[in-house]
Amino acid sequence: METMKINKLEIENVKRVKAVKLEPMANGLTIIGGDNNQGKTSVLDSIAWALGGDRYRPSGAQREGSVVPPTLHIVMSNGLVVERKGKNSDLKVTDPTGKKGGQQLLNEFVEQLAIDLPKFMESSSQDKAKTLLRIIGIGDRLSELERKEKELYSRRLAIGQIADQKAKFAKEQPYYPDAPKDIVSPMELIRQQQEILARNGENQRKRDKADRYRQSVALLSREVGSLQEQLSKKRKELEDAQLDLDTAAMEAQDLQDASTAELEAGIANIDEVNRKVRANLDKDKAEEDALAYKNQYDGLTTEISQVRKDRTDLLQSAELPLPGLSVDEGELVYNGQKWDCMSGSDRLKVATAIVRKLNPKCGFVLLDKLEQMDLQTLREFGAWLEQEGLQAIATRVSTGDECSIVISDGYVAGQEHAAMEDRKTEWKAGEF
Ligand SMILES: Nc1ncnc2c1ncn2[C@@H]1O[C@H](COP(=O)(O)OP(=O)(O)O)[C@@H](O)[C@H]1O
Ligand SMILES: [Mg+2]
Repeated sequence: METMKINKLEIENVKRVKAVKLEPMANGLTIIGGDNNQGKTSVLDSIAWALGGDRYRPSGAQREGSVVPPTLHIVMSNGLVVERKGKNSDLKVTDPTGKKGGQQLLNEFVEQLAIDLPKFMESSSQDKAKTLLRIIGIGDRLSELERKEKELYSRRLAIGQIADQKAKFAKEQPYYPDAPKDIVSPMELIRQQQEILARNGENQRKRDKADRYRQSVALLSREVGSLQEQLSKKRKELEDAQLDLDTAAMEAQDLQDASTAELEAGIANIDEVNRKVRANLDKDKAEEDALAYKNQYDGLTTEISQVRKDRTDLLQSAELPLPGLSVDEGELVYNGQKWDCMSGSDRLKVATAIVRKLNPKCGFVLLDKLEQMDLQTLREFGAWLEQEGLQAIATRVSTGDECSIVISDGYVAGQEHAAMEDRKTEWKAGEF
């Protein structure tokens, strides 16, 4: 089916409308102008009712003061005729071959949001983004990527905090560059000490021995005088003793005791040394720990950039309805701006583009209250619609040149007379 547009519409006695005939432009903006409360919005409401079905029926559909029921007559671009008339405003759809159809046939090309754009414009930014993602068919994969990125991000945040703490802890540990690499045992020093003490004991015994001979010599010398008769014998003894003395004295003469002071200090110092060794080992461990966490953090950073890239790639691979339109963190973004920061005309452009993509068979969109756009913006928007091959029927509080028609008191200004004439003809035709 081709793209459907509205070729012609005739409305009578719907809401504020008395009689309006309009042939909208096939492409671009058709503006229904007029002052307030003249029936502009009633025209759009009539189109919505005619094409959208009974749920768009206005509560006060028949114009107050009219004795005849509402009449709606729309001719679509493929020749399809849509009518509502009579007491119950029954729908009548006739195709160019004369075949009858119903709402079902209209639903094929009528996009609900195209006849009810405010519904889209007023939906939450998340819902707008969802609509867009749904039509480009990547909603599920994108939210999965976003979920994954969030999870990685919070994991990295936690790891990063631990990594910082570990690094800080490692930095605070004391370090002693002069301490040995390994824990020192006191046994070896004690063994050396014992050895020296044993040698010193031996020395002492030798010294004692020399002393004893010294006493003996003295005793014998004293006895020499009184013991003349034993002199020769004693002289011999004296000589021997003298010899022994010489030997012993010689042995004892250069003996020097080694000091154990250093070893004692070493033993006393051993706890302090080991404290430093342990501190150094602890610092090494803390640094290893910190490095492991840092590596983990860096790994997560790589993963996050990959997920972000996947997300960007996914969005770029999707066919978006408008250049510059994208989704970021579950919200629509157009030329870098989120919905609440978009200009009124950008919002209309975005909404129109999305609605169009929702059902490409629907070639028209109804836009109420275009007075928010200045003339320049209006022209740009109109040009964009033309370029997109889209038909927009819009209302605007204005009677200026930009308006295709001006509605006044329920009539198209300048057509009041014609409408009266039509009615007379119909009345006459009905009578005869
Ligand atoms: N069934 C009706 N019959 C007559 N007037 C109506 C009916 N329904 C609404 N109105 C009146 O129409 C006016 C609004 O019409 P509307 O088409 O919204 O005007 P506009 O869009 O030009 O401001 C209001 O004054 C309202 O009271
Ligand atoms: Mg209005």
